[in-house]
Amino acid sequence: MTMPETMPDTMSDTMPQIEEVLIPVYIMGKRYEVPPSLTIMKAMEWAGYTLVRGVGCRGGFCGACATVYRIGGDERLHFGLACQTVVRPDMYLAQIPFFPTQRHTYDLTRLKPDAAAVWKLYPEVLRCLGCGTCTKACPQELDVKGYMAALMRGNISAAADKSFDCIMCGLCAARCPAEESQYNAAILARRLYGRYLAPRSRHLAARLAEIESGAFQDELAALKGADRATLLKLYAARDIEPE
Ligand code: SF4
Ligand code: SF4
Ligand code: FES
Repeated sequence: MTMPETMPDTMSDTMPQIEEVLIPVYIMGKRYEVPPSLTIMKAMEWAGYTLVRGVGCRGGFCGACATVYRIGGDERLHFGLACQTVVRPDMYLAQIPFFPTQRHTYDLTRLKPDAAAVWKLYPEVLRCLGCGTCTKACPQELDVKGYMAALMRGNISAAADKSFDCIMCGLCAARCPAEESQYNAAILARRLYGRYLAPRSRHLAARLAEIESGAFQDELAALKGADRATLLKLYAARDIEPE
């Protein structure tokens, strides 16, 4: 995050459409007046910061913009994603673009989908105190304590299911008294589940076999040889599944 000499390109996006009464927020300890309709991320840009780190998708999916804040007069610490959380008056905020935790590398093909695999790579899961601080911190409102309990029991499927919407933001680890790497242990569970435990789709297997047998070779060759206008026309006319 750096202060620019000139306004960032994204500035036009952050301009409020109607005149608003500005509210005070504190970014890294410095006071700014910002429109109350902005997210933390847009408020920072409004204040003149160029976000180099701590920003990614801007849509609540990538987990890059983990933010910790307090509100004046409220002793509690709050957590949120800067791209999703709207500013409030007297918000004191700091971004945590990266939280250092244990992250092991492994060859998934050499692991078994059992408790031992998780406990060997992440033995600290067995130290979880069940305090629930991680659950309170999660901006995805995941049952982090619950998926940690599943990992302690070696229930890979439950851990994978409960952590499915994790965006790896790291906020659960920030205040964990047992110094856990919750989200890294959880992605191991999801990988084990995906490779070994998830039910296989017979339809998908049949379609893959069809593709590998060359059944669509002519159509693929025609698409590869098509010009842009043809591709655009085909794209516009594609079948779209009803919502
Ligand atoms: S904050 Fe840490 S110790 Fe507490 S429940 Fe979560 S993982 Fe366990
Ligand atoms: S489980 Fe942890 S890393 Fe995953 S979204 Fe929640 S707080 Fe972020
Ligand atoms: S920028 Fe990706 S979640 Fe906020």
